[in-house]
Amino acid sequence: MITADQQALKKMAAEKAVNDYVKDGMTVGLGTGSTAYFAIRRVGELVKQGFKLRCVATSEATEETARECGINIVQLNDVDHIDITIDGADEIDPNLQLIKGLGGALLREKIVAAASVLEVIVADESKLVQHLGSKASLPVEVIMYGHLRTAYALKRQDCEPVLRMKGSEPFVSDNGNLIYDCRFKEIRNPFFLESAIDTIPGVVENGLFLNRATAAVISHRDGTVTEMQRRE
Ligand code: 5RP
Repeated sequence: MITADQQALKKMAAEKAVNDYVKDGMTVGLGTGSTAYFAIRRVGELVKQGFKLRCVATSEATEETARECGINIVQLNDVDHIDITIDGADEIDPNLQLIKGLGGALLREKIVAAASVLEVIVADESKLVQHLGSKASLPVEVIMYGHLRTAYALKRQDCEPVLRMKGSEPFVSDNGNLIYDCRFKEIRNPFFLESAIDTIPGVVENGLFLNRATAAVISHRDGTVTEMQRRE
């Protein structure tokens, strides 16, 4: 359950990132999730103040929120690049490597991140971990056809894949796919794991975002906001 305090922390990180990074005239990628939500709202305020922004959404839910905030949404195919994307994360390690996708938008989020000059992550300090996989499961999006076989192949990567449900039905992503949340005891080499997962037939995308984030704006319970930058 998200407490009022956690909500305030998410808002603090999201608003600082938008205030610091979003400039008039930019093309902006809008992330998905409860922290990105506050970034979208702040972008909406900038639009009301007169900023001319073109925004690309990473999910249908984000597109709906953005439109409610008066934000002009354009399709990714209609832009040649994105200046900055502001998105959340489920885990952030000290090298700015991430697990994303608890909100189910990992595929579009990764495509948008890859099209972005800057990928800025917004989160509260509860998302910081020493090693990826220590708190969160790794979401893997798979096509429906033969998904039990795909799950079997995922299990051979030394994890416990659990089909994500929405009520009594499997959760279906915006792309019409299923998600397996894969619980690892430990992710020793995320780069190796990413390639191993990506070679499994039926896998569409995984939630490891490696060398994708350029910065992370993190809010802390003591009221401070810090920033991590990617070391090249
Ligand atoms: C959605 C995501 C989200 O960014 C991630 O799950 C973090 O969400 P929240 O800010 O609600 O904790 O990857 O696919």
